[in-house]
Amino acid sequence: MKDMGVTLQQWIDFLDIDQEIIDTLRDFFPILAPRIDRVSHAFYRRVLNSPEAIKLFADEDSANRALAHQKRHWLEYVFAGRFDRDYVEAALRMGKTHQQRGVDLRLFSGAYAVVLSEVNAIVMENVPDPQRQKRVLRAVNFAVFLDLGFVASVYYDAYTDDLASMAKDLTVSLARAGEYRDADTGEHIHRMAKMCAAVARRLGKDLRWVEQLEAASPLHDVGKIGIPDAILLKPGKLTEEEMSVMRRHSEIGTDIIPDNDHEILQMARRIALTHHERWDGTGYPAGLRGEEIPLEGRIAAVCDVYDALRSQRPYKRPWSHEEAVEYLKQSRGTQFDPAVVDAFLAALPEIEDIWRRYGEMPSPSSRGAS
Ligand SMILES: [Fe+2]
Ligand SMILES: [Fe+2]
Repeated sequence: MKDMGVTLQQWIDFLDIDQEIIDTLRDFFPILAPRIDRVSHAFYRRVLNSPEAIKLFADEDSANRALAHQKRHWLEYVFAGRFDRDYVEAALRMGKTHQQRGVDLRLFSGAYAVVLSEVNAIVMENVPDPQRQKRVLRAVNFAVFLDLGFVASVYYDAYTDDLASMAKDLTVSLARAGEYRDADTGEHIHRMAKMCAAVARRLGKDLRWVEQLEAASPLHDVGKIGIPDAILLKPGKLTEEEMSVMRRHSEIGTDIIPDNDHEILQMARRIALTHHERWDGTGYPAGLRGEEIPLEGRIAAVCDVYDALRSQRPYKRPWSHEEAVEYLKQSRGTQFDPAVVDAFLAALPEIEDIWRRYGEMPSPSSRGAS
């Protein structure tokens, strides 16, 4: 969640709300405050006349409470020129409440239009000096636009946060579906997400890319869902033929993950397809070499192998951290991108911390295609 204090400052800067506007609002406040009921009544009439708006309230009491709340918001913040931390909190609550209740943004801006025209009328009637009148009108308009815009942006954020958290849950559930048969804890996908993010940060990738990778990497092995039990869960070494079936999980994963424009899903598809490619060109499915392999695939390859080595499997004991790191070093430049291995080694403090937090529960039935 972003810092809404920063967002507010951006609104203030872009609208050019300066000290003069704030001072003008405060100067006008003693004229407006005793007349605020006139504003609320106009607002109230507008709400009561709209069948859509009236539906939002359970009864008259709740409508009255909402209106009283709105009135306090104008008096305490908007027309008092008080755009501080408390205002941010109040705007956050207001934007979220409106979003949760499903208040249409049309009704929202309609209500502001009523308030604005009523306050403008109060200015015209009570501030006779034309110069001052102009200044006050300007200040009042800016304050109302700021509040409308800022509260609407909170509303919009709450809405997109809802969708983003649902998308994230669905992504994780799909990843768990892929791991369900052969790893009975969800810890591998959590470690993958966190380790990939730590390595990407060490490579200097920006926050957005890191977050996308964190969300996309758990899906790397989702294609294992299409591998028969006899192969996926076989306790011994796979035959060459079985191996070739197992290798199909890369392409199956790309078939399963939707070809949606969203960057997280596109990245997840690339990772599913390329996390078994090797830097020296001897990997699968396409035998890509070096930077032909997308960076996210190269990062997932290193993290996935490290994780598989350290995990218990029916055919192997878990390797120690030192042994797994030694393997990465030896495979630097052959199996793995040297720069990614270096970033992984630089991130070891975070990696160990991730393992402390999401360390594997021993699971007797697990094979793991890695
Ligand atoms: Fe895999
Ligand atoms: Fe894996």
